[in-house]
Amino acid sequence: MSLLTVEGLRVGYGKVEVLHGIGLRVAAGEIVALLGSNGAGKTTTLRALSGLEPVRAGHIMLSDQNIAGLPAHQIAALGLAHVPERRRLFAPLSVEENLKLGGYLIRGQQAELKRRIEAMYVLFPRLLERRQQLAGTLSGGEQQMVAIARALILEPRLLVLDEPSMGLAPLVVRSIFTIVQRLRDQGMGILLVEQNARQTLKIADRAYVLESGSILLEGSAEDLARDARVQSAYLGGAAA
Ligand SMILES: Nc1ncnc2c1ncn2[C@@H]1O[C@H](COP(=O)(O)OP(=O)(O)OP(=O)(O)O)[C@@H](O)[C@H]1O
Ligand SMILES: [Mg+2]
Repeated sequence: MSLLTVEGLRVGYGKVEVLHGIGLRVAAGEIVALLGSNGAGKTTTLRALSGLEPVRAGHIMLSDQNIAGLPAHQIAALGLAHVPERRRLFAPLSVEENLKLGGYLIRGQQAELKRRIEAMYVLFPRLLERRQQLAGTLSGGEQQMVAIARALILEPRLLVLDEPSMGLAPLVVRSIFTIVQRLRDQGMGILLVEQNARQTLKIADRAYVLESGSILLEGSAEDLARDARVQSAYLGGAAA
């Protein structure tokens, strides 16, 4: 059974429908890429999955439970964590305070929260050095690490990431993607929204291409990287 099964998902803003009944699946231990150009509806998809935008129609099954329409905190408690577009850290707070806020659902369990924060410093040693630094003064790559670590504090089954590579140098993107692969290898399901199709298709197992609110293509990452339409639209026309 898939960890995440989305069917017929419709979401919109006011009178405008943005997602026209999309479907996708993510299994445990799988990186699934969601590619698409600006305005295709990628962020809207992730926000709907996380309970941040109302769902107009469709099912969002997390294992065997339909989470469509549940409030965001309940969805988080069921094991879906969201790393938002542009990171959305609390800039005037330290790295450690940002991580503590990620643990809002277990804030009554101080020892457990401490254990999970320490685990994040093992995964991201750079953050241990900078635990007292204000998040707003971190480099872009470090901020992305905090955003991912903050989402991981709740030990999710499914991690959805919205353009983690945005604005980062290729070497930094590679280190972030290495972490994502490690999480996949530990059995987490990953839904990765990206515009950086070339690097993303190298680490993804499967991918979907979303255009104007509909799924245009889906397949193994390998097949999509070879697809002429993907190459001309997302890979600059050259073979990957
Ligand atoms: N809060 C909102 N109110 C009204 N329209 C919105 C809102 N958020 C997004 N939209 C519209 O919905 C469509 C899809 O936006 P979305 O942010 O999901 O695209 P995206 O694929 O994430 O794009 P990008 O690659 O630029 O991040 C766009 O036409 C956008 O203008
Ligand atoms: Mg977006």
